[in-house]
Amino acid sequence: MATLTADPAWRKLSAWYSAHGASLNLRKMFDADKERFSNFSRVLKTDDGDILLDFSKNLITQETFDLLLNLARSRSVEAARTRMFSGEKINFTENRAVFHVALRNRSGHPMMVDGQDVMPAVNAVLEKMKKFCHRVRSGEWKGYTGKAITDVVNIGIGGSDLGPLMVCESLKPYSKGGPHAWFVSNIDGTHLAKTLTKLNPESTLFIIASKTFTTQETITNANSAKEWFLETAKDVSGVLCQNLQMLHWFLCNVFVCTQWVGGRFSLWSAIGLSIALHIGLSVMISPFTAFILYWKLCGWAFGFNFSIWQYFFIEATVTMLFGSKRCLLVFQGDMESNGKYITSNGHRVDYSTGPIVWGEPGTNGQHAFYQLIHQGTRLVPADFLIPLQTHHPIHGGMHHQILMANFLAQTEALMKGKTEAEARKELQAAGKSGDELEKLLPHKVFEGNRPTNSLIFKKLTPFTLGVLIALYEHKIFVQGVIWDINSYDQWGVELGKQLAKAIEPELATPATVLSHDSSTNGLINFIKKHRA
Ligand code: F6P
Repeated sequence: MATLTADPAWRKLSAWYSAHGASLNLRKMFDADKERFSNFSRVLKTDDGDILLDFSKNLITQETFDLLLNLARSRSVEAARTRMFSGEKINFTENRAVFHVALRNRSGHPMMVDGQDVMPAVNAVLEKMKKFCHRVRSGEWKGYTGKAITDVVNIGIGGSDLGPLMVCESLKPYSKGGPHAWFVSNIDGTHLAKTLTKLNPESTLFIIASKTFTTQETITNANSAKEWFLETAKDVSGVLCQNLQMLHWFLCNVFVCTQWVGGRFSLWSAIGLSIALHIGLSVMISPFTAFILYWKLCGWAFGFNFSIWQYFFIEATVTMLFGSKRCLLVFQGDMESNGKYITSNGHRVDYSTGPIVWGEPGTNGQHAFYQLIHQGTRLVPADFLIPLQTHHPIHGGMHHQILMANFLAQTEALMKGKTEAEARKELQAAGKSGDELEKLLPHKVFEGNRPTNSLIFKKLTPFTLGVLIALYEHKIFVQGVIWDINSYDQWGVELGKQLAKAIEPELATPATVLSHDSSTNGLINFIKKHRA
């Protein structure tokens, strides 16, 4: 296959951009085409209500859209999708299938890796989780003094933390009497120490969530949690015997997470045990049915996938997400998957790949960083997500009404901006004139023309959350295929880990360190000298 920038479909897109890119103006395009919203929006019908994706506020025309779809075809995205769903080892640097989609398969159809149907093993783990969750949630499973479990602590990091954390936070209203879920990820001891102050060992259950059981943060936190447990529980008679039981429990309660589940997609696997304990496995199963919608979602992902366009042609570097609770998982999914510069052939790309993704729920961001999105020099395409119904309709639903108004206003403002004439009129109406007005005027103008996607869904139900996560997963997949990178490894995080392992013993000795560059030596020696 030709490299991306040599692909005729890319060249066409590029030529089109050279001819028309500078004149793409959202305000004008909306004025000229009264059907723009209906042309560039789609509704996905689901059991939990319609989900609307409005991508009309993107810097595209029908021609751009067609050229982008043409590019996806030319880059064989459909064939790549088939390869993923048929269990091929598309994670070629680790020689692994990318099969988290099988974890959502509730259709009863087999899904094969290496000629073997993985579904019996997937279902067996689910069954084991189901039984375990039932015992814990019903109070049958007890702590060492016979008390029911009130708190579950998930010790994990990256995908072994962020996915379960996001889902537990978002679906708290469904917990209904389930144990409280805590998440400890950071190696910074404050995280564990602060969490432990709120816990009683007699009614706390720890989950060590790790695909590899080699992750330094997780193992260190797990050992410290164990120490705390033994220390806090030491005055209880029979604790030793309980320890033996714990060991037995540990050996019996290993929930297997297979190699073909990537870290950032593992919430669907046994790594999601904290979700199952917190909200109940039947609730957790609901997002799994998102699998049934996968073809539709894949189709959406094609349409939704403007990043290719934005990051190469219109020079955006960052994406902002509004409204999703704890969207860090999406950040990890996107940046750990597509933050790569080597193609499948081992060459350096000559185009931009993974964007920087960040965001903030609700209107907080408006009071922190939206200034940069509206009037900064970088283009920041943003996704806005909102439910029609809130789980917390306090004050007669007034909070949600205000939230929705802001959601709508932001995408309108980013698209339309404010012209000089409009700003002038406003200043005049506020009693300004002459020099004072002229000085203020340029600061009050908004260029607008900032692209956004809007996603509106009925309520943040388990099913809808599953659909949204799957949609982002597919979007990331489509981008990776077009950019010709392996979205499923993460070698880039290894170097720092390796170096930290070498530095740690150096920090433990009094000797002056000279083995690094002068900056790193300087920092190490400064720390050693002053930390006492
Ligand atoms: O740091 C990278 C990473 O491998 C992530 O991809 C993963 O989610 C995280 O570390 C945790 O890994 P594990 O589940 O093996 O502890």
